[in-house]
Amino acid sequence: MEAIKMIKERRSVRKYKNEKVDREFMKEIIDIARWAPSWANFQIARYTLIDDEEVIKQLATDGVKGFTYNIKTLENAKGVAVLSFVKGKSGKLDPEKGDYVTEKGNVWEAFDAGIACQTFCLAAHAKGIGTCIFGVIDESTIPGIVGLPEEETVAALITYGLPDEEPPATPRKDVDEILRFL
Ligand SMILES: Cc1cc2nc3c(=O)[nH]c(=O)nc-3n(C[C@H](O)[C@H](O)[C@H](O)COP(=O)(O)O)c2cc1C
Repeated sequence: MEAIKMIKERRSVRKYKNEKVDREFMKEIIDIARWAPSWANFQIARYTLIDDEEVIKQLATDGVKGFTYNIKTLENAKGVAVLSFVKGKSGKLDPEKGDYVTEKGNVWEAFDAGIACQTFCLAAHAKGIGTCIFGVIDESTIPGIVGLPEEETVAALITYGLPDEEPPATPRKDVDEILRFL
C-alpha cells in the first residue's frame, strides 16, 4: 500500500469480524513493525499477542479500569496485542548502566513505545488488519493477566482483527494550526 494513503486512511477500528487472525500472518506484521526506529536502536518494544477468548474476557473485566467504551471493543475483538517495553534503557547511553542523559529522563521509553505502536498499526492496516490503541488500561493488572516478564512494563493494549466497519475520518487540526516556520 502506498505510504501516504496508508497514513491517511488508517482508522481506529472498534468492530471486528468473528474470525481470528492467523498467527503466522500476525508474525508478518510484527516482522514489519520491528523496523520502527528507537532510542540508540535499543529496540525495547515487545508484543504479546493474545487470541485466547478467555484471556481477552479477563482483560475486559480487569484490564481497562471498567471503561465501558474499551470493554465494548474487547467484547468483539478476536485479538489483542499487549505492547510493552523493557524498562530502564532508553534515555541512557549505555543500556545497562549510567544516568539518563537528557531532561526527559526515562520518558524516551514511552516515546519509543509510541513509535512502535504507530508502526504496528500502520503495518497492520497495510495488511488489511484493523487496530485500536487503548491508553485507558490498568497497568497493575495486565502484567499478571498476560504473564509479562518482570523487566517489562505495559505501554498500551491494541485490539486487532479483520475490520467489520469502515469508520469515517476523525477531524484533524488544520496544518496552519500545528505548523510554524521560523
Ligand atoms: C495514546 C492513545 C490512547 C488511546 N486510547 C484509546 C482508548 O483507550 N480507547 C479507544 O477507544 N481509543 C483510544 N485511542 C484512539 C483515539 O481515540 C483515536 O486514535 C483518535 O480519536 C483518532 O481517530 P483515528 O485513530 O480513527 O484516526 C487512543 C489513541 C492513542 C494514540
